[in-house]
Amino acid sequence: MSALAEEFPYYPVSAASDEDEGVVRPTRVMIDLNALADNFQAIRQRVAPSKVMPILKANAYGHGLVPVARLMERLGADYLGVAVLEEGILLRKMGIRTPILVLGGIWGSQVPLFLKYDLTLAASSIEKLQQIDQAAEALGTVARVHLKIDTGMERIGVHFYSAEAFLEASLKCRHVQVEGIFSHFANADAADLTSSRLQLERFQEVLRFYEKRSLPLPMCHMANSAAILRLPEAYFDLVRPGILLYGVYPSPEVPRTVAVRPALTWVSRVVYFKVTKPGHPVSYGWTWKPQRMTRIVTVPVGYGDGYFRAMSNKAQVLIRGKRYPQVGRICMDQMMVDIGWESAYNGDEVVLIGCQGEECITVEDLAAWADTIPYEILTNINTRVPRIYIGDGVGEAEGR
Ligand SMILES: Cc1ncc(COP(=O)(O)O)c(C=O)c1O
Repeated sequence: MSALAEEFPYYPVSAASDEDEGVVRPTRVMIDLNALADNFQAIRQRVAPSKVMPILKANAYGHGLVPVARLMERLGADYLGVAVLEEGILLRKMGIRTPILVLGGIWGSQVPLFLKYDLTLAASSIEKLQQIDQAAEALGTVARVHLKIDTGMERIGVHFYSAEAFLEASLKCRHVQVEGIFSHFANADAADLTSSRLQLERFQEVLRFYEKRSLPLPMCHMANSAAILRLPEAYFDLVRPGILLYGVYPSPEVPRTVAVRPALTWVSRVVYFKVTKPGHPVSYGWTWKPQRMTRIVTVPVGYGDGYFRAMSNKAQVLIRGKRYPQVGRICMDQMMVDIGWESAYNGDEVVLIGCQGEECITVEDLAAWADTIPYEILTNINTRVPRIYIGDGVGEAEGR
């Protein structure tokens, strides 16, 4: 195994290894570590002197939790953000030493595990703060906590208008170190920034608590990718980029003020070829039939891989540098493509996301066909699709 393969192993478990290259299914996701590195550096430059917390939840937006965390650690990320306890524990078990904030809600019974694995907790109510305090006391330790303020998301966190009592309570916890305080934008990716500015003002008002009591401000953070692109006032001490790190812009409404490029390519190969007669419908439900004699190729990718069934009869793929329509219902593990009277052969590469020749298919294209957002496309590429890591992760920004 190459040093790179050892450092960036297939994750989660896949049968693939360098030696088995020829026998694994040809459907695979390729992650360009150099693109990730360059994206990280571009974000870091844009927000400096604020620090950067790459968001690695949901298998690093489909890019592979552990390899992306290793790369971010190597690049000197200041903090890592995940959604759930298990993601944090896995990173610790895999040797990640960078501070990790678990952004999601917690149950009291989980607190000892947070402490055991040196994970930072998001405290989202007085009750949870007290549970953390008690668990830390029982273990003879101090829990590192970031207080979650709800400024308009109505998800987790204490409402901005009730935050004073929450912050007061935090000062009384002897076994809690309030390292940070944060909030989250609901609409930073929308054309109109009015509600985001309102959320920002609410957060700033909450922070005045510390000033009024002459207490040092904890580490403050609020900016997701969209806010990084367009709301420098929201950078505070740390920013939390998710989608932008992976080279995808959060929405078409957001100005592209940081240059990033997609790190993920999704490919497969033609596994079958047949000629289909006019009037002979294709796939489940017979939702599509050719008008004339045509060539249909089968590609071993389906909704079981995260290629959404909702894209049936809308999606396109690239074969031999040309775009072709996917036809008939997308099955769990296979789908059909109409190549008309062009040529394609078993083994030909099929690009689902990425470029081939002059043509490119983007995550945004898939999102439009599936009537969803790029986030959902990326996070749904199933773990049975092997991830292959390319590039050394140094990136072009590092003086190559
Ligand atoms: C609390 C929190 N911070 C940051 C992010 C990153 O968001 P984005 O991918 O839009 O940058 C998320 C993702 O939803 C989040 O939930």
